[in-house]
Amino acid sequence: MSSQLTRRDWLRASGLLTAGLGLSRFTPANAARPNAPLVSGFANEFAFTDDPFEKMSKLKVRLLANENPLGISQSAKDAIMKATEIGNRYAWAEFGPLKKLISEKEGVMPKNILMSPGSSDILLAAAEYFAKGGGTILTCRPTYDDLLEKTTKFGATIKAIPLTKDFKFDLPALKAAITPDVKLVYIVNPNNPTGTILSPAELEAFCREIAPKVPVFLDEAYIDFLSPADRPMLGKLVAEGLNIIQARTFSKIHGFAGLRLGYAMAQPDMLKALHQYIGAEGDVSITTLMGGTASYQDIAWQDHCRQENAKARDYTTKALTNLGYEVIPSYTNFILFPIRMKTTAFSNQMFANGIGIQTRDFNGQPYCRVSVGTMDEMTQFIDGFKKVVG
Ligand SMILES: Cc1ncc(COP(=O)(O)O)c(C=O)c1O
Repeated sequence: MSSQLTRRDWLRASGLLTAGLGLSRFTPANAARPNAPLVSGFANEFAFTDDPFEKMSKLKVRLLANENPLGISQSAKDAIMKATEIGNRYAWAEFGPLKKLISEKEGVMPKNILMSPGSSDILLAAAEYFAKGGGTILTCRPTYDDLLEKTTKFGATIKAIPLTKDFKFDLPALKAAITPDVKLVYIVNPNNPTGTILSPAELEAFCREIAPKVPVFLDEAYIDFLSPADRPMLGKLVAEGLNIIQARTFSKIHGFAGLRLGYAMAQPDMLKALHQYIGAEGDVSITTLMGGTASYQDIAWQDHCRQENAKARDYTTKALTNLGYEVIPSYTNFILFPIRMKTTAFSNQMFANGIGIQTRDFNGQPYCRVSVGTMDEMTQFIDGFKKVVG
C-alpha cells in the first residue's frame, strides 16, 4: 500500500465527486453560494454540477464519513438548548470549564489547549504554518491527507513512507527518513483509512527522540475509541515542553461532526503561531461549546458509544470474514478491506442499493472503507454487499 489518499480521491472513486459532495464540509450555506470558494480547506474542485442532496437523500444507510450513528448525548442536547439563551454573546469565559476538564484528563495546562470548530481547522493552520517557505513534511501513506495536501498548496513537499505490512505507521522508517529539510512529522493514530494503531510505548519513545529535532503532529481524531491500554497519553510530553501537537475532535465519539468542535494541545507559542491562520476559538459557537462541555463529562454516553461501535464492528468484521474477505483489524469506527470489483462499479452499485460507503485503489488493489453504523445499519450493509458482489 503506497499510493496516496485524499478525500477527493475517495470521493472520485466513490462516484461522489461529480455529485459535488464533500464529507464533512459541504453545507447548505455553501450550496447557496455555488461559486464561492469553500472555506476551511475544502477543495474548490467540489464543483456544484449536480445535486448532492438528492444523491444523499436516497441513501438508506450512510457509512461514508465515520460519523457517530447514535447521535449526540441527551446531556449535550440539554446543554445546547440552555445555551441558546446566551446565543447573543460571544463564547469567552465559557471555554474555561472545558479547557479545565481537558487539561485534568490529559495532564496539560489550559494554556496548552486551543479550541476550534473541528480539528480540520487545526490541520489547516498547521499546513500553512509549517509549509511556509517550502521544506518537507514527512509521513506514511495511505493516511488522512487533508493536512498533507494543503501543505503542498502552501509550498511544501511531501515525503511519504509506505505503511508497514500490517498497515501501521512505520516509525523506524520515519526516523531514518529525517533530513534537515523536514519541517514536520505527521502521524495519524489510529490511522485513517486503515484503522490501525501504534503501541503507546513505541509512539512515546518516537516522540521523545524526534520532537527535540523536528515537531511531531499527532492527529488523534479516533483516539476515543481505544481502550485505556491502547490509548497513548502523550499530554505529559506537552507538559514536559516537547514540541508535539496533538489534534483532537468531538466529531467522532461525541457525535459532533455537524456541530463542529475540536482542539489542539501543544506549547503555547505553537498554539499562538497556529492561531494566526484560523479563527479557532472565535469560530466556536456557544451552543456547540456548551454541548461539548456536557458531552465531555458524560462518560456513560461515551462508554455506550464505544461499546455499541465495538459490537457492530465485530459483527461486520465476522460477516465479511465469513464471506471470504480479509479485513484489516480496526480499532476505530470504520473498517478497510480489499474488494474484488472495480471501485466505481462497486460504489455505484452499493449506492444504487441505498448504501453509502467509500472506495479507493491502493497499488492497483481496490478497497472499501465502511464506517461502523448501528447494528441494524451494518446488517443492511452486509445484505447489500452480498447482493452487489453476488
Ligand atoms: C484522521 C482525521 N483527522 C481529522 C479529521 C477532521 O475531523 P473534524 O474536522 O470533523 O474534527 C478527520 C475526519 O474524518 C479524520 O479522519
